[in-house]
Amino acid sequence: MAKLNINGKVRDVQVEADTPLLWVIREQVGLTGTKYGCGVAQCGACSVHINDAVMRSCSIRVGDVKPTDKIVTIEGLSSNSSHPVQKAWLAIDVPQCGYCQSGQIMAAAALLKKKPKPTDADIDAAMTNICRCGTYQRIRAAVHMAAGNGKGNGGRSAETPTRRS
Ligand code: FES
Ligand code: FES
Repeated sequence: MAKLNINGKVRDVQVEADTPLLWVIREQVGLTGTKYGCGVAQCGACSVHINDAVMRSCSIRVGDVKPTDKIVTIEGLSSNSSHPVQKAWLAIDVPQCGYCQSGQIMAAAALLKKKPKPTDADIDAAMTNICRCGTYQRIRAAVHMAAGNGKGNGGRSAETPTRRS
């Protein structure tokens, strides 16, 4: 049995203490925006915020989360997709298959909370989530756009070459 504060709601869940937090978020609570990728804290698909820091929920035991810890999932980032990171993601059309993107957005939101005007180096250091579709250029551009620092050019010239016949 555990008591968890997820997206501002306190939930009682019947699970063993060593159950990964990701399982509880998806299976017990039914919030499926947070994804399972590697299960070993490498890919970032399962990223959530705990007390404003980005954490990989596949590798956190529910028993190690306190009832007072504030967990935020992609569903709780904003009520209507109005978070600046979500708006920039939409404007730049970042996702390709989309699978990694909730984790990417959570990592970007946590970065901007800590560092509202990140440099390219800050973004590269903080955004270690893996994207198998290779959307890294657009992710970086969207983080800049969300930060309002005028570099949100979409990164498309490097990533999407024009086909010529
Ligand atoms: S599923 Fe958690 S880091 Fe990959
Ligand atoms: S958009 Fe497909 S894995 Fe990132």
